[in-house]
Amino acid sequence: MLIDILTIFPEFFASPLECGNVKIAKNKGMLNVRITDIRKFTKDKHHKVDDYGFGGGPGMVMMVQPVYDALGSVNSGDAHSILFTPQGKRFTQKRADELKEIEHLVLVCGRYKGIDARIENFIDEELSIGDYVVSGGEYAALIVIDAIARLLPGVMGDIGSAMEDSFSSGLLDAPRYTRPREFMGMKVPDVLLSGNHKEIDRWRRKESLKLTLAKKPCLLDNADLSDEDKKIIKNLRNRDGKEE
Ligand code: ADE
Repeated sequence: MLIDILTIFPEFFASPLECGNVKIAKNKGMLNVRITDIRKFTKDKHHKVDDYGFGGGPGMVMMVQPVYDALGSVNSGDAHSILFTPQGKRFTQKRADELKEIEHLVLVCGRYKGIDARIENFIDEELSIGDYVVSGGEYAALIVIDAIARLLPGVMGDIGSAMEDSFSSGLLDAPRYTRPREFMGMKVPDVLLSGNHKEIDRWRRKESLKLTLAKKPCLLDNADLSDEDKKIIKNLRNRDGKEE
């Protein structure tokens, strides 16, 4: 998979792309990341990428021409281009799963008050990492690259691990524990020490449903739930109702 990043801060990516799963994906030849400096496509001698916004108001706007030319320099026509912006569709685990199948992505990182709106005509998709504003699309690009890289075949040691992540089944993951068995009087649940894998799976599924219901109930609307799951949720809801 090839990911092109268009940015005015190439140096932003130096160390994050050399760590963890992104580095592994690159070293295994599953992922190639290229960085293009948008500033190289400016036409004035000062390499200016921004200008005052028409109509006034605070903040500078990134000019469309250097971004358009940078896009053209990496996209021979088959790439899927993504612009990071707070107005984009919320990035999800499901979208990471879909994007990992695309051979060539171009990630466009805006700065300042964003890129001149006409750039939308040359972009396939707009993504947001959440309802808040960060200083540039570079932060979003790193999040998206990592979420994709860890899903590429052979990157995570245990493929089951990615499949059991929070959100991959549409639910939050069950709580996890490691040694010691007891810490400040708090014990690891007995079932996890039982060696009974069927029981452990049942416990994890129930905890996963419990956690999702308590912390992100909106996820339950789109989760893939069995009849048994639905029964558990009904019982949990009844129990909570009675306890109030
Ligand atoms: N650029 C600034 N804020 C952003 C956000 N929340 N998501 C994606 N790109 C952004």
